[in-house]
Amino acid sequence: MAILVTGGAGYIGSHTCVELLNAGYEVVVLDNLCNSSEKSLERVKAITGKEVTFYQGDILDRGILNKIFAEQKIDSCIHFAGLKAVGESVEKPWEYYNNNIAGTLTLVDVMRQNGCKNIIFSSSATVYGDPAQIPITEECPKGQCTNPYGWTKSMLEQVLSDLQKADTEWNVILLRYFNPIGAHKSGTMGENPNGIPNNLMPYVTQVAVGKLKELGVFGDDYDTPDGTGVRDYIHVVDLAVGHVKALKKIEEKAGLCIYNLGTGHGYSVLDIVKNFEEANDLKIPYVIKPRRAGDIATCYCDPSKAERELGWKAQYGIREMCEDSWRWQKNNPNGYEA
Ligand code: NAD
Ligand code: WQD
Repeated sequence: MAILVTGGAGYIGSHTCVELLNAGYEVVVLDNLCNSSEKSLERVKAITGKEVTFYQGDILDRGILNKIFAEQKIDSCIHFAGLKAVGESVEKPWEYYNNNIAGTLTLVDVMRQNGCKNIIFSSSATVYGDPAQIPITEECPKGQCTNPYGWTKSMLEQVLSDLQKADTEWNVILLRYFNPIGAHKSGTMGENPNGIPNNLMPYVTQVAVGKLKELGVFGDDYDTPDGTGVRDYIHVVDLAVGHVKALKKIEEKAGLCIYNLGTGHGYSVLDIVKNFEEANDLKIPYVIKPRRAGDIATCYCDPSKAERELGWKAQYGIREMCEDSWRWQKNNPNGYEA
């Protein structure tokens, strides 16, 4: 039996392929490469000595989905494929709703037509909006999203939950990721953003490698210990392992489950700068800029439900996240481009 990994060539997907192959699963990847490179899958092979079966195509395309289900014995799907740039989603809401929502509806329809009713969905801490409580537990109510990207996650959680309630043969696991950073220890796989990065860690590593002049720190007047935004950064390999644990849960007939995947620790923007500098013996010049629209002060989770029910707990700390992000960027200044 194989696992269909949509978006498996991307940042989190490719790291998850490594962990799945290492755990002995057969892996089938569907990715249209709109935000990734097939080279990531070559690196997966170099690390694991095993190959994934790759289909280049779109989750909106029933034809390729039917072909995959006809050719492979798919037992479960880990669904990463989606557009994820918050700012771009405000400019192009239709593209985001179509790709993420219509894409997922198409995928799920083809899955059920083929009797495959096991799905792990990449959700996000963004569904909590400005959280009602810190640390955030899974009982914390979902909030108002500040952008179409966030709404696609919130709406898809609702769609998948309703589907499972109506047909209890479905096993649906919603994983709410906090802030994934870091890279595989080998330094051969990592985050590969197009253009100027929106997220903090890739911006920091591009300053470190000399591609960008200085970091802009978005606001130093939040109600946090040093005034800068606090987040729950999680190593991408820990996140990847969380998906293998979620698959085990599906094998035990999970029903509908929701888990926060984070470390439970909050670090400010300046904590990240300081830890990155100390871990890698580098200087990161920065300037304080105005707050970024839509940002909140503090966001970190209580990850204990995942530990209790999945036996999953993040193993890597902030120093390793900083070291591993830098090793990837230093060895691959242009990401997967030569
Ligand atoms: P990514 O962009 O690196 O990976 C997404 C992959 O999906 C890419 O390889 C892209 O080419 C592919 N894709 C997009 N639309 C597709 C389509 N219609 N058909 C086929 N393939 C398609 O992003 P990532 O950081 O690895 O994120 C993976 C998932 O996790 C996404 O759903 C994202 O929203 C979610 N997530 C990411 C973060 C984060 O900070 N990185 C946080 C929370 C949730
Ligand atoms: C972290 C902190 C910024 C860049 C986003 C999405 C969320 C999820 C994860 C997908 C904040 C500050 C950032 C910079 C800065 N993605 N910052 N200078 O906003 O917590 O979450 O990625 O689901 O949905 O919103 O992450 O890395 O952009 O920002 O000062 O150049 O760093 O203000 O406090 P965020 P981020």
